[in-house]
Amino acid sequence: MICLGIESSCDETALALVEDGRLLDSVLATQEDAHVLFGGVVPELASREHYRCIGALCDVLVRRSGVSLHDVDVVAVSRGPGLLGSLLVGVAFAKGLACALGIPIIGVNHLHAHVLAVGLEQEIPFPALGLLVSGGHTHIYRVEGADNFMVLGRTLDDAAGEAFDKVAKVLGLPYPGGRLIDQLAARGTADPTLFPRPYTNNDSLDFSFSGLKTAVATYIAARPEMCAGVDALADPPQSLCDMCASFNRAVADTLRIKAQRALDKAHDIDIVVLAGGVAANTLIRRVMEDCMRVRGGRLLVPSPALCTDNAAMVAYAGWRLACLGYTHALDFAAVARGRPIPEDMQRISA
Ligand code: KG4
Ligand code: ZN
Repeated sequence: MICLGIESSCDETALALVEDGRLLDSVLATQEDAHVLFGGVVPELASREHYRCIGALCDVLVRRSGVSLHDVDVVAVSRGPGLLGSLLVGVAFAKGLACALGIPIIGVNHLHAHVLAVGLEQEIPFPALGLLVSGGHTHIYRVEGADNFMVLGRTLDDAAGEAFDKVAKVLGLPYPGGRLIDQLAARGTADPTLFPRPYTNNDSLDFSFSGLKTAVATYIAARPEMCAGVDALADPPQSLCDMCASFNRAVADTLRIKAQRALDKAHDIDIVVLAGGVAANTLIRRVMEDCMRVRGGRLLVPSPALCTDNAAMVAYAGWRLACLGYTHALDFAAVARGRPIPEDMQRISA
């Protein structure tokens, strides 16, 4: 079965083809250059860029892969959460294709697709704990299967990725700054006492990163020499690298503490799937790997290109759901960030 996946939830337009769980080909157009001037994603601009690129990208995918659209069995599309205008472009394009080709369509939960992405590289034994750490979300899930995610914890304010991007912005680094903080942190030594492990002194599985973000911003404000922006990247001062290492460590420790707590509560789970754009972070990967090794469990984490937004994960999630017999009626809605995703898939056959 061939599934065409479409991703347009934020500032990446992407399409991919997955056949029987294996990635055939994928294309991606990032809008980073368009938004960098504004220090963040401008929703109106993002929708226009998706609309400008999506058709041409689909042509490139078809030509390069040699797969005709008439060979596609099912279309999967990120239906949310995300920027509504951006989602509408991908969803409308997917619905048009499904109509024209006379094939089923599946609206995929973007966050679930992040967690399932690692299935393209290795088998996911269920039940597993999903630790989804992205630009807009930080969630802990109990995952029983592609169609069964239960939220155990979520961020009460900022997502971990937002904290990375905000700290980068205060330092004068371009958006999205998570990757740059990661690079600077790799050259520094963390002081584990410098910043708090926020919202860990309790029994909760929820997160709260806004206090950490403010603590780091206050620390930087007192040291304006750290804010040299991109010019600092070539030869960064040691104090900047050390500060980034301390901040990165605080985020990594917080994620580890919450994941350990969730595992302590779920006695039948010893697998953690780390996913989302922030899962590309070197230190977070290392801290979580060490944690799972010490516990005698296993960490599954996709290669970095599958962590950040991509369509391979959407095609893969769509393929798995199609294998379970799911489909959507053509009137399913795109869902903006902050709104619940309806349980409105139809099951034709198992
Ligand atoms: O999952 P994603 O691509 O988009 C959303 O669905 O939000 O995540 C994007 C986030 C951004 O905040 C970006 O700064 C962060 O992932 N990110 C990183 C790294 N690479 C991307 N954060 C820390 N370290 C990285 N290496
Ligand atoms: Zn994402």
